[in-house]
Amino acid sequence: MTDQPGRDREQRLPIPRPPSETAPADRFSAPPAAHDVSLTPERAAGIVRQSGNARWVGFLATLVVVLFVIIYYFYELGVPGIAGTSRLEKEGEAQYVTDVERGYNIYEANCARCHGEQGQGGIGPVLNDQMKLFVHLNEEYLRTVLYAGGRYVCGNADSIMPLWDSRTGGPLNYQQINELIAFLRATNEHEYIIRDPATLEPILDQAGKVRTFTGWRDPDFRPAPGATPVPACWTDAFATPKPSGSPGPTTTPGASGTPGPSQGTVVTIRAQNIAFLDQDIKAPAGQPFQISFENLDAGIPHNVDIKDQSGGDLFVGDIFSGVETRIYDIPALAAGTYPFICTVHPNMTGTITAE
Ligand code: HEC
Repeated sequence: MTDQPGRDREQRLPIPRPPSETAPADRFSAPPAAHDVSLTPERAAGIVRQSGNARWVGFLATLVVVLFVIIYYFYELGVPGIAGTSRLEKEGEAQYVTDVERGYNIYEANCARCHGEQGQGGIGPVLNDQMKLFVHLNEEYLRTVLYAGGRYVCGNADSIMPLWDSRTGGPLNYQQINELIAFLRATNEHEYIIRDPATLEPILDQAGKVRTFTGWRDPDFRPAPGATPVPACWTDAFATPKPSGSPGPTTTPGASGTPGPSQGTVVTIRAQNIAFLDQDIKAPAGQPFQISFENLDAGIPHNVDIKDQSGGDLFVGDIFSGVETRIYDIPALAAGTYPFICTVHPNMTGTITAE
């Protein structure tokens, strides 16, 4: 009803129209030639030519699509028999390389202080050992240790290795655990780039060269036949036979150092918190003496391992944990200095000076 007034107005004031003029009929029709539907030889030839061209265009278009599909197939999945040509594989590898590089940073920031920058061990057990990497340090085991913490390793509830997995309250999330494991299991065939953890830019050394690292695992490693398998609990590896020539220790578990009557000098070596409290020991040169070795750590196994100057073992004491003292007879040492370490924690060091 809204257009009612408009219509009214139109009715009231009719618009004057020009007189209608009839258009000539042939203005809208094709020229007479167009009405000629008979097939001249030229037209027939033209039609044949055109449809031939159209077929070619269709064929070429199909060919392009088919070739594209084939080429893309090989681009994506790789040319059979030629390694390293697959885009998917390359993508996967790039992702893996990123994981390993991030895992390296996570390791250096969290684990290196106990297990060594190269996994060579320290307060914590060695991790870069080929025998261990072959079976013992498999992905599932690593996952469990990071999830449950050091207590999982030997059942030691006082283990100093914390929990790492965020599901058990640790600091590392699911992805970081995956990256860490990718690094711990990485092989030594490839050079990875050390990157700034924040910017992911490569880190340069003083000479301006990009710093790199390699994984620890040798993929070609096979244990020698008859090799001792890695024990489930790492400290058991130290409990096996002592090097020949080292005297049997006189153990007096729990006793506080009572020197034997025949031995004059008793020197005390105490171990606590992954360090020897007594690092500079004096002993008489040229005569046997005794060592009273005290492990003051309830949960951490230690021993005393006296070396000669060339690094060979002169004496290796028992490895034990728990607050306990053991007395050992040490054969005479020639005048000189003798380094000693804890076999379990090789970065615990001290020196015996025989004079
Ligand atoms: C405070 C020192 C400390 C830190 C930090 C530490 N660990 Fe440990 N780790 C240990 C000790 C000690 C053990 C041995 C467990 C035990 O017997 O108590 C151990 C055991 C392990 C084991 C088992 C080794 C074996 O031979 O079975 C793995 C694997 C391991 N740690 C990985 C890691 C990783 C990965 C990190 C970093 C996220 C890490 N640790 C950080 C001290 C540490």
